[in-house]
Amino acid sequence: MVKFKHQRSKIDALLSSTTSQTKVMITGWLKTRRISKECCFLEMNDGSCLANIQVVVDPNLDNYSMVSKVTNGSALVIQGDLVPSKGKEQQWEIMAHGVEVIHLAPETYPLQKKRHTDEFLRTIAHLRPRTNKYGAMFRIRSAISYAIHSFFNEKGFCYLHTPIITSSDCEGAGQMFQVTTLSFDNSTHHVKNDNDFFGKTVNLTVSGQLSAEMFALALGDVYTFGPTFRAENSNTRRHAAEFWMIEPEMAFCDINECMNLAEEFITYLIHYALTKCKSDMSVFIQYVDPTVESTLNQILSSDFERIPYTEAIDILNHSKEQFEYKTDYGQDLQTEHERYLTEVHFKKPVIVYNYPESIKPFYMRLNNDGKTVAAMDVLVPRIGELIGGSQREERLDVLLQRMEKFGIPQENYWWYLDSRRYGSVPHSGFGLGFERLLMLLTGINNIRDVIPFPRTPGAIEF
Ligand code: 4AD
Ligand code: MG
Repeated sequence: MVKFKHQRSKIDALLSSTTSQTKVMITGWLKTRRISKECCFLEMNDGSCLANIQVVVDPNLDNYSMVSKVTNGSALVIQGDLVPSKGKEQQWEIMAHGVEVIHLAPETYPLQKKRHTDEFLRTIAHLRPRTNKYGAMFRIRSAISYAIHSFFNEKGFCYLHTPIITSSDCEGAGQMFQVTTLSFDNSTHHVKNDNDFFGKTVNLTVSGQLSAEMFALALGDVYTFGPTFRAENSNTRRHAAEFWMIEPEMAFCDINECMNLAEEFITYLIHYALTKCKSDMSVFIQYVDPTVESTLNQILSSDFERIPYTEAIDILNHSKEQFEYKTDYGQDLQTEHERYLTEVHFKKPVIVYNYPESIKPFYMRLNNDGKTVAAMDVLVPRIGELIGGSQREERLDVLLQRMEKFGIPQENYWWYLDSRRYGSVPHSGFGLGFERLLMLLTGINNIRDVIPFPRTPGAIEF
């Protein structure tokens, strides 16, 4: 008896390794049940793949009367023979010798066989991975996580775990969740830091970049892949309060090499999804967004456009589109602008670089014009900004000037400044929002539907 998962590859491996041994055991949940004149068919799924496996139950089985009434969502253990199927729908099926009902789900099981809206499924986020669509989604999430590590591992990058609890604000945007062991003081609306756990104001990380820079300047090429927290009060379909970010950081690397890596990275991951996650991707290609496959193929077949910020502003100002937000020089690009550039104007991914220094964080390298910084954002169709990155300011004197300009106290960043005192080199990196990548890959339109238990303003159920 072999306990196995019913993925195609596992079945093939099982059958090629044995000639006579086809006695198998599978565990899983009942998707649907069908009764014919001669027998009962159970469509079983163990969660390992999209396709169900059919189990044929003969009326002579001891507990047949119970098995023939078993409800959707029930947990079963099946023992039987793996045999070529007589039906056209599947190549193999299991002729059951024994069906053990581990748990009978009541008729109130919410996932009966009909299509549910994403909004409804969000209210039962604890059960939605049992649906075809969300099962596929979260298997793709897992496969792409693996692909990310493979990509960097193949390139010799070192995987770095940066702290979740920090006392620095990398992005300087102040959108941070404070961490404290003290109770909130209603009179001041502030926590008194002196007697707090760490003795100072502490928050959840908004980016691992500053730590990653320290390690790039020691180990060369590093990357982080971990949770990130932002208390942005923007209830949009592409912002979450807790999301995952991948941040490579490279020493002896300028902005152009950084753009090259970003382009190669995105292309690698799209190719991985299309070739290694074929069956799960089919759910999204067929039922979620019929344009997703052509969008991804188009990204694969085109070189990313690279334009300076001023040119992006020019294009936007000369377009006939009515934008909600202004596109004057010095304004940050909004989603509507990003989407126009990538979807309408260039019809491919666009890397916008050299942004005005006033709208980007302190650590970005000041260009020779004194007005722009070596920033780069990668914009992709349907999502807008997928990546934000830059070359870092490696010159101590310029960095100090920028920190002063942004009102960032030097004493808190003495360790960061030290890296510019001892063996400072040009270095660059970027951050890719993992959930936004998954939205791009699957055509899913809301960030809440690509993360197991989403955290957004006012929503912390589960
Ligand atoms: O552009 P951002 O803010 O860049 C940084 O944090 C840099 N420190 C990264 C670096 O250079 N190492 O964020 C990077 C990416 C964005 O392009 C976006 O894809 C994603 O993170 N992101 C979010 N994803 C989901 N929800 C949010 N609230 C996000 N904020 C940023
Ligand atoms: Mg950004």
